[in-house]
Amino acid sequence: MDNASRTPSKFYAPLAIGAPEPYRALPVRLERMIHFVPPHNEKIRSKLDGMIKKVDVILGNLEDAIPASDKEVARAGFISMAKEHDYGQTGLWTRINCLNSPWALDDITQIVAEAGNKVDVIMLPKVEGPWDVHYLDQLLAQLEAAHKVERPILIHAILETAEGVKNVEAIAAASPRMHGMSLGPADLAASRGMKTTRVGGGHPDYAVLADPGEDAAAPRPNYQQDLWHYTVGKMVDACMAYGIKPFYGPFGDFADLAACENQFRNSFLQGCLGAWSLHPTQIEIAKKVFSPDAAEVDFAKRILEAMPDGTGAVMIDGKMQDDATWKQAKVIVDLAKLVAEKDPERGVAYGL
Ligand code: GLV
Ligand code: MG
Repeated sequence: MDNASRTPSKFYAPLAIGAPEPYRALPVRLERMIHFVPPHNEKIRSKLDGMIKKVDVILGNLEDAIPASDKEVARAGFISMAKEHDYGQTGLWTRINCLNSPWALDDITQIVAEAGNKVDVIMLPKVEGPWDVHYLDQLLAQLEAAHKVERPILIHAILETAEGVKNVEAIAAASPRMHGMSLGPADLAASRGMKTTRVGGGHPDYAVLADPGEDAAAPRPNYQQDLWHYTVGKMVDACMAYGIKPFYGPFGDFADLAACENQFRNSFLQGCLGAWSLHPTQIEIAKKVFSPDAAEVDFAKRILEAMPDGTGAVMIDGKMQDDATWKQAKVIVDLAKLVAEKDPERGVAYGL
């Protein structure tokens, strides 16, 4: 910790008198997909009850993809959708406009005033450094105190500028209000000057050409590479080091379900816990990718049963288990229990 950081006791103190205590550990929530809805669209709002049951998180989007002329209607639509529905275990998030936009201040003040006790997480776009998080952190504490909000509203940063990637560790460490981060490949590509026009996914020209074989005239395989590997890895390290959650963001080609699944799975294998769903077909893909595998859950249960107090060493199917694999098994079984509560079919497959 450098000299400019808050002391540990101050770090966990509320930033306004009367604001709720910051969390010391994040609430345990299932967040396989963050499902984006445009809150200015009444037809979509009218179908929310069914959607709330289907997804882990509903996010009312106020930022990009909402036309400038609809920003106020979208904000009001989000406030009504927050008030009118019971979300149960489904998270309610909003993506506000970025801090230098003409809408951000009203987004924050009106949403906390009118729906502060319903909102779990505010997604903050285009975060460039810890200063953006500190600003929102302080403002939220003041508003929570003024409007008697009982639980701290968490902040989820979108990692989507070159400067944000440079400062990713400081962003992760900025506040106990930090929930996690999502990779925003569209804005990040623009900010970095990448020569693409896509929202996530690969690019056929980003590839490695295999060496020529014996027949110099034979066509050489060209292996497409993952454009996002470096950034996802950097984000996962920063998040996990500070105990917050990493997510992959949007995948824009709604027709290419296989490529979406592949992008989600690469991020899952690298450590991400979920991704955004921008289209209903992406909800099922996220469930498939980010729910633990039934065979793995079964094996994890056997480890927990074989080591009731979590210590010592046992052999299961010829594989050594000890305190460390017990902890991995517990992560999987805990996740499977959360999935089973939301998703009874998977619960049956898990034997839970
Ligand atoms: C998401 O906001 C992105 O820019 O990819
Ligand atoms: Mg963006």
